[in-house]
Amino acid sequence: MGRGVRVIAVINRKGGCGKSTLVRGLASAAVARGEKVTVFDTDSSQSIYGWMRVARQLGNWDDAVDVMHTYDPAEITARLDAIYAEVPHDHLILIDTFGGASEALDDVVMQSHLIVAPIRPGRGDYTETMETLIWHERLKGRVADPDDVPEYRIVVNGITPEPSATERQALEHIFETMPVIEEPVLERKAYKQVDGEGLLGVIRNKTRMSIVQRHLTNALEEMSVVLDLLDDAIIERMEAV
Ligand SMILES: Nc1ncnc2c1ncn2[C@@H]1O[C@H](COP(=O)(O)OP(=O)(O)OP(=O)(O)O)[C@@H](O)[C@H]1O
Ligand SMILES: [Mg+2]
Repeated sequence: MGRGVRVIAVINRKGGCGKSTLVRGLASAAVARGEKVTVFDTDSSQSIYGWMRVARQLGNWDDAVDVMHTYDPAEITARLDAIYAEVPHDHLILIDTFGGASEALDDVVMQSHLIVAPIRPGRGDYTETMETLIWHERLKGRVADPDDVPEYRIVVNGITPEPSATERQALEHIFETMPVIEEPVLERKAYKQVDGEGLLGVIRNKTRMSIVQRHLTNALEEMSVVLDLLDDAIIERMEAV
């Protein structure tokens, strides 16, 4: 069944929690399924735009993925309108933001179907992620209709194979107090490789070494499950409205 056009904004005030990593992973998962992907990179460091340029040079890109670097909500709106005007198709739209972002993002958020925040447990991410959740709650008070504010989901990021007692405790606390999706994202070398080289599926298909290929496949499958869960959250919300 078609998924249509979905807009996901990746937002967390906490720097370095894995926002751009998640955007790269979700873009990879969607394009590997044959979807079109558009990424709006609103970060001055151009983390996604720069990634695309390197990936293109290395031949690790797919033209079904489009990246636009912009700070202008009106520019985002115009591009979204153009996408909505196309014949119906599956299209994942991701908005990458910088750490510390807040009210400046109101306009961008109101054009999304879902807000997603990665969080790394046991690293002091909790407080700032909670602040981001509070910002989201307050946004409902700033708009005409609070029901128009998209829902928020938390993605746990950077889980190690043998978490320490502190990490486990932090994880439990996150699951008890935040709207977390079930699938955690593991700490993986594959995500660093994606960062430096390009789209996950494209790199995987070019890799000869079977062990590296397996690691990349596992990461791609992980991101595919995360994408499914985020899509489920969007569909649930649409059906409820
Ligand atoms: N699951 C992961 N496995 C391995 N490395 C990761 C993972 N998540 C993030 N990283 C690494 O951690 C660093 C910070 O991640 P990233 O750039 O995605 O964070 P960010 O939230 O986008 O930061 P900023 O707020 O500065 O934009 C990067 O070097 C990235 O490769
Ligand atoms: Mg980033």
